[in-house]
Amino acid sequence: MRAEDIKTVVVIGAGAMGRQIAMNSALNGPGYQVILCDSFPAALEQSRTWVSEYLAGRVIKGRITQEISDQVAARLTITSDVDGAAAQADVIIEAIIEDLAVKRELFQRISRLCRPDTVLGTNSSNLVSSKLADVTLYPERLMNIHYFNPALVMKLVEIVRGPHTGEEALETARTFAVSTGKSPIIINKEIAGFVANRINAAVTREACLLLEKGIASVEDIDTACEKGLGYPMGPFRLMDMTGIDVNYYVRRDRYAESGDENDKPSPLVVEKFKKGEFGRKTGKGWYNYEVQEKED
Ligand SMILES: NC(=O)c1ccc[n+]([C@@H]2O[C@H](COP(=O)([O-])OP(=O)(O)OC[C@H]3O[C@@H](n4cnc5c(N)ncnc54)[C@H](O)[C@@H]3O)[C@@H](O)[C@H]2O)c1
Repeated sequence: MRAEDIKTVVVIGAGAMGRQIAMNSALNGPGYQVILCDSFPAALEQSRTWVSEYLAGRVIKGRITQEISDQVAARLTITSDVDGAAAQADVIIEAIIEDLAVKRELFQRISRLCRPDTVLGTNSSNLVSSKLADVTLYPERLMNIHYFNPALVMKLVEIVRGPHTGEEALETARTFAVSTGKSPIIINKEIAGFVANRINAAVTREACLLLEKGIASVEDIDTACEKGLGYPMGPFRLMDMTGIDVNYYVRRDRYAESGDENDKPSPLVVEKFKKGEFGRKTGKGWYNYEVQEKED
């Protein structure tokens, strides 16, 4: 499959990531037909509502015209028919739950339903495509195509080459990402965390170490990153947004896999986790959001 021949993009999994990847492909691409599918009716219903509210919001804000909104809505189909969608796909991006057994079942099935040259990408943050390659028919078209949350806003897409990935499919995925307004990078070897999340993990680890040693406060470490290094958000503020629980689980699992002490969750993160202080979603993390809301 060459990038210029792509007409139909299929996104499987209509959750937080999938619906935004589908919308980005329909809105910012050169006119792709996009099919967003999910096996759960509730997820499909929520996606339908989200799509119409998102497009209406863009029109109200003057970012797109009503005509563009109508065209995008007409190009973006939402369906429970995963197999039927796969059969029509030029590119498939899988964004279902992070469960290896479920992903393996899906790739085994869809790789037999789509054309042999359909590009297959998994959006997984933690599972490299090698873990899917043995069940996938024609694994040379398989790779990680990793978007960042929120996928409509964040420009980076990490395309991770597995030992099985062919050059042509990789180049098609790269060109496809560019055609939808993204800035893809190629990661030449499968590695846990890929590139951006590894760098972020290193920064977060150092920030936690500085805090543990009493070198500087949460606020001052965030200020150093924001005002001195130009980060849009310091590591503690970012952790509060993405969830301290998520940081805990990722580090715990990575440590279990690597045995490397550097991968262990920080004791301060463990403490927050045990107290149920996960960040914004619980009203308290490194910062206290309930207090801030009252002050507002
Ligand atoms: N959330 C993030 O910040 C983020 C960022 C980058 C990558 N990812 C990756 O994206 C993937 C999805 O994450 P998410 O946060 O969007 O999850 P989510 O839970 O919001 O959505 C997953 C969707 O998959 C659907 N689903 C489950 N099994 C299915 C199946 N067999 N067939 C079809 N649909 C199925 C569910 O109904 C749900 O709507 C994961 O692999 C995750 O690692 C997530």
